[in-house]
Amino acid sequence: MSELTPQVRRAVCPGSFDPVTNGHLDIIDRASRLYDEIIVAIFVNQAKSNMFSVEERREMLVEATETYPNVRIDTFHGLVVDYCRANDVPVIVKGLRAVSDFDYELQMAQMNRGLAGIDTLFMPTNPEYSFLASSLVKDIARWGGDVSALVPPLVLKRLRNIDG
Ligand code: PNS
Repeated sequence: MSELTPQVRRAVCPGSFDPVTNGHLDIIDRASRLYDEIIVAIFVNQAKSNMFSVEERREMLVEATETYPNVRIDTFHGLVVDYCRANDVPVIVKGLRAVSDFDYELQMAQMNRGLAGIDTLFMPTNPEYSFLASSLVKDIARWGGDVSALVPPLVLKRLRNIDG
């Protein structure tokens, strides 16, 4: 191991998590086995209208990942690479659901590497969740559809309290 290799192998899983889904949790679970520490970083974007506040999204993530001793939740504003540099994180972990994700994710990964030398590790999503997106979950829940197989129970409870 070179002197420059960080002692703690850290990775960040960035996203909006509005709300966290079983697809996100699958990626977090698998990433937590590959790295010493996983930081799930909620992107705070005032320009985007979210269903849940940052604090609510954080609470849901904290509860959903409480059994993982090496996963912690944080928030960030600005560029993900600036967050990585400030927190000594050399790699971003992203789930890829389908080819349709690939173009944009590749573009961001190459941009992030060019900007700051931060690499991106792509993990293929569990096929069980390849169609899953927070936006679809919110839409189905708003219209009273059943999303119980798509999100953890604690998220389901909060979705049921949202007025359509
Ligand atoms: O869950 P999302 O909304 O698909 O997550 C997208 C996110 C937050 C990971 C991405 O938009 C991001 O990294 N935003 C931070 C701003 C940034 O770094 N933009 C430049 C990317 S090249």
